Amino acid sequence: MKKVAIFASGTGSNFEAICDNEDLKKIISIEWLICDKPNALVIEKAKKRNIKTFVFEPKVYASKQEYEVEILNLVQEMDYLFLAGYMRLISEFFLKSFQKPILNLHPSLLPKYKGKDAIKQAYDNGDLEIGISIHYVNEEMDGGEVIAQKSIKVVDGESLDDVTNRIHELEHYLYPKVIKEIVGGKNEKSIN
Ligand code: GRF
Repeated sequence: MKKVAIFASGTGSNFEAICDNEDLKKIISIEWLICDKPNALVIEKAKKRNIKTFVFEPKVYASKQEYEVEILNLVQEMDYLFLAGYMRLISEFFLKSFQKPILNLHPSLLPKYKGKDAIKQAYDNGDLEIGISIHYVNEEMDGGEVIAQKSIKVVDGESLDDVTNRIHELEHYLYPKVIKEIVGGKNEKSIN
C-alpha cells in the first residue's frame, strides 16, 4: 500500500472519485485531506470516509512557508501527493522539501488555459475540442510535465454548463486511472 495525501479546496468530486475507486483501494491508502478552505464541501466527504483532515486558513499564518511547513510535517511519510482542485501554488521550498511525485489535475489541454476558469476560457474562445490534463507539479502554475490528456468534442449549441459537466465526468474517469497506472509503475508515456 502506498500512502497518499489529497489536497483540495472545493466540492471534492475528484476527491470522491479517487477515494471510491475500487482498484485504487487495493494500492493506495489515503491518509490525509489537506484543505485551505474551512467551508469546503470536500471536508465532509473526507470525514464520512474516516480520512484525517488538515484544514487551515492561509491568512492566519505570517507566511506561506509557515503553513507549508505544517503540511510538510504531516505528509513527509507519504509516497505521493495528489492535488484535486487545490487552488494554491505549491512553492519551490515545498517541492525541494518533498522530493516525491506530486500530481495535479487541470481542466484544459495544457499548455492552453493555465490558471482559473479554464473550461470557460476554452468555451468562450469557441474551442471545439476541450479537455483535461494530468501533470506533475513544478513551481509554475499548471506547468509541470504532462502525464495524460483527454478531450471531448463540443456539440453544436451545447451550453457551458453541459460542457463543464462532461469535463468533470472525464476527470472522474481519468484521474483515478492515471493514479492507478503511476502508482502501479506504468511509464507515463504509455498512458492514454
Ligand atoms: C476540477 O475541475 C479540477 O480540474 C479543477 O477544480 C475542479 C475541482 O472540482 N482544478 P472538485 O472539487 O474535484 O469537484
